[in-house]
Amino acid sequence: MTSSTVADYIEDVSPGSGALPPRARYASPDTKSLSLNGSWRLRVSATADAEDDSFAEEDYDAGEWAEVTVPGHWVLQGHGSPIYTNHLYPFPVDPPRVPTENPTGDHLRTFALPSEWPSDGGAVLRFDGVESCARVWLNGTDLGEFKGSRLPHEFAVGHLLKPSGNVLAVRVHQWSAGSYLEDQDQWWLPGIFRDVTLLHRPPGSALDFFVHASYDHTGGEGTLRVDSDVDGRVTVPALDIDVATGESVTVPVRAWTAELPYLYDGLLTTEGERVPLRIGFRTVELSDGLIKVNGKAILFKGVNRHEWHPEKGRALDLETMREDVLLMKRHNINAVRTSHYPPHPDFLDLCDEYGLWVIDECDLETHGFTEQAWRDNPVDDDRWTPALLDRAARMVERDKNHPSIVIWSLGNEAGTGLGLTAMSEWIHARDDSRLVHYEGDIDCRDTDVYSRMYADHAEVERIGQGLDGGTHKRRQLPFILCEYAHAMGNGPGGLADYQRLFETYDRLQGGFVWEWIDHGIKDERYGFAYGGDFGEELHDGNFVCDGLLFPDRAPSPGLLEYKKVIEPVRITGDGADGTVRITNAYDFADLSALTFTWSYQVDGETVESGTLTVPSLAPGESADVKLPEPPTESDGAESQWTVRASLAADSAWGAAGHVIGWGQFPLTARPLPSVSAVAGPALAGRRISLGPATFDARTGELKTIGAIDVTGLRLDVWRAPTDNDDGASWQTDVRFGLLWRKFGLHRMRHRLDGVELSEDALTVRTRVAPAAWEIGFATVYRWTSDGSRLRLTVSVAPEGNWTFPLPRLGVRFGLDASADRVKWFGGGPGEGYPDTKSASLLGRWQSTVDDLQTPYVRPQENGARPDVRWAELGGLRIDGDPEFWFTARRWTTEELDAATHRTDLAPGGTVWVNLDHAQHGIGSQSCGPGPLPQYFLNARPTEFSYVFSESPETS
Ligand code: GAL
Repeated sequence: MTSSTVADYIEDVSPGSGALPPRARYASPDTKSLSLNGSWRLRVSATADAEDDSFAEEDYDAGEWAEVTVPGHWVLQGHGSPIYTNHLYPFPVDPPRVPTENPTGDHLRTFALPSEWPSDGGAVLRFDGVESCARVWLNGTDLGEFKGSRLPHEFAVGHLLKPSGNVLAVRVHQWSAGSYLEDQDQWWLPGIFRDVTLLHRPPGSALDFFVHASYDHTGGEGTLRVDSDVDGRVTVPALDIDVATGESVTVPVRAWTAELPYLYDGLLTTEGERVPLRIGFRTVELSDGLIKVNGKAILFKGVNRHEWHPEKGRALDLETMREDVLLMKRHNINAVRTSHYPPHPDFLDLCDEYGLWVIDECDLETHGFTEQAWRDNPVDDDRWTPALLDRAARMVERDKNHPSIVIWSLGNEAGTGLGLTAMSEWIHARDDSRLVHYEGDIDCRDTDVYSRMYADHAEVERIGQGLDGGTHKRRQLPFILCEYAHAMGNGPGGLADYQRLFETYDRLQGGFVWEWIDHGIKDERYGFAYGGDFGEELHDGNFVCDGLLFPDRAPSPGLLEYKKVIEPVRITGDGADGTVRITNAYDFADLSALTFTWSYQVDGETVESGTLTVPSLAPGESADVKLPEPPTESDGAESQWTVRASLAADSAWGAAGHVIGWGQFPLTARPLPSVSAVAGPALAGRRISLGPATFDARTGELKTIGAIDVTGLRLDVWRAPTDNDDGASWQTDVRFGLLWRKFGLHRMRHRLDGVELSEDALTVRTRVAPAAWEIGFATVYRWTSDGSRLRLTVSVAPEGNWTFPLPRLGVRFGLDASADRVKWFGGGPGEGYPDTKSASLLGRWQSTVDDLQTPYVRPQENGARPDVRWAELGGLRIDGDPEFWFTARRWTTEELDAATHRTDLAPGGTVWVNLDHAQHGIGSQSCGPGPLPQYFLNARPTEFSYVFSESPETS
């Protein structure tokens, strides 16, 4: 058989045929448009040519077909299943061929033109996004076909339109030659997933135009020139501008920045229409080896954003997009990389309006070719270059008028090759007002920025110092981490350590956390589903859940940590000398939008607060500000200052009072709990009593404290490994999660060596060790009491050769399931681990046991509250000597470890409490480096104590 089947275009490397040249996206109030979103008819076939194209004919009866919502993906609407792979192509790699099994969705809808639809001029049919290849017919006429899933395609259709009974038929193939260019780490989700719109094009309408609006920071003047395909006039009333298209005008203006996103309303008027413009004046340049905007080097505090909705996939509505932008602004994020494709265009309008620096990335990734040493990589094969250039042009032309976009990115993880060079050259020639980025270009031949992903702290520091070498060109360039801090599961750890580097070395211009949101799919079976949950033969499991937001957009602890780490106001100092240092860490804004408050806590309780007068510092400036006199004597209790910076008034994205940054400063230290060992242990039958407690006389096991039953108190070194503990399979560094399991930390045995009663103490000697290995801990529990309170001192001495750090070190025990309300004085309100606790605020907190849990999509260690002085739960009060990490949950660590989805976790009859003396760091090894050595929990002789007493309040 020759290859002349109906579906030849599917495997054609060319971008398609029939579509109009790409152009800017805009809407004019003067011109009619008709949304073709809504309910369409759908027929899904298993192969591309199972059905002929008669469905496109005008009298076709699709009454028996299913219905599908457009925008949408048919696999999320009950037809077939989504597939998740990170970089492996879910089909044989034989470019540009695709499998015969090629799910194909025939989409059909009819429409009538609104009665006021003008009879003059033409019309354009626009598709904003279809995955991965579509062929389009209107009223039986074949308009053409296209690829480039997250890019717009328009067809001229004016001559085909009828007042009513128009039949629009779209055949969508899941796989095409284009799929080879779209191997991003995400779900494969076929469908018409962005808007379909019919646009009237009056005679003399604007076609395409390019707004050039630069800013000269030396004189405070902006220069505007609008190049338009169709001549017209440009007016900006607020600036008294009225010029012809193509003509430059320079006037004093307010600049646009992500911090102060000042937009001017303008109008482009051609003979046929008026086009509203939102103009932001700013100049992006590479100067002194730095990315500068308006003459100032900027620091990206960014995230990578995939488009995601747990039910709708990549079919996002405006409100969801706005929610993303508002959440970013409220968490101090100032930049987005649109990984790894141009987003829905409305998202960029929001970035202009609310203020975010944008790296707009092209819809291009060929990562799967890495499995064959990049052989046959389309980006290094001239036959594909037209498709690559088409993608570059469709991105740049659509998005060029957005002031928020400061950098174009060629794509992601596509190796290197002449196709990328061609894209870079084309983009530079078309738009010299922005920079070009591509991470895979390690020598920076085609790029203006040296960019890497997941480099560890030490390497980033060397780069900052300029000691990293590289080509001559690269050495002159600024550096960004286009991805770092892999936010998969619990984590990422080490954010604060990266931020310190970014703020120390000029060359380091910040980074973009990977990534914004978990791509979990809402699913009755699992809560949220991930890779493998749909029976995929190849998949990458929960690697698709690695965001700062949970799939339902609830912020994860990682986002709160990031917010704190990148706060644009630094509040530092030493409470003892009565002053705090306030530093403005914005690049452009002064502090006039903020108010400052102080509060004073004794024992974690705020006793007084007030406002703090802080000068409106310019960016980079600091001031030392005097705190008031401490309002009360602390009477020997722990006391501290808390200073907060918050919005003085409602802003576009946050309400007055929204906290931007804070600092805490200890004044008087906490007195450690002391218990004088006056009550001795007494043996009575099978029980030993000691103060308020009873123990099993044979095993020395704690049984009760007053009226409270306690079960299973013992040393615990195991935590349910986090994704970052387990690390990624390709990591060459040691992965502790695997070592912990190998050495049996999840199955430690507790040998009883002796129960000793002395005059003032009950001592229980044990050895805690895993089967098969010589390593272990000589563990001694020493119990004393003053009659009402009970003190436990745990001494742990490692035995054997411990060559790796421990997950945790502390005790665990069970309480009755009625234990629910929790109060504590310590870090909160959310979880924190050694390298993720910058956002942990010292204070008094309350919760329920259920609310202490962080619902990671794949269950894993979570919920520890750090720096806890005391905690109350189930009628018990626990005072730490020293402070401890507090965790309580309705399942055991073993159950947490065994669970693969949230729905696997069911409350049992016991509340399990962990009081940890120490925890191992979290790091980011699920894709990047593990925890820094200073966050290791190394096995060494250790002693720590807890004082237990009854507390009526939470009983
Ligand atoms: C990067 C890639 C991202 C994502 C991430 C891991 O290599 O660019 O798309 O796969 O790793 O989550």
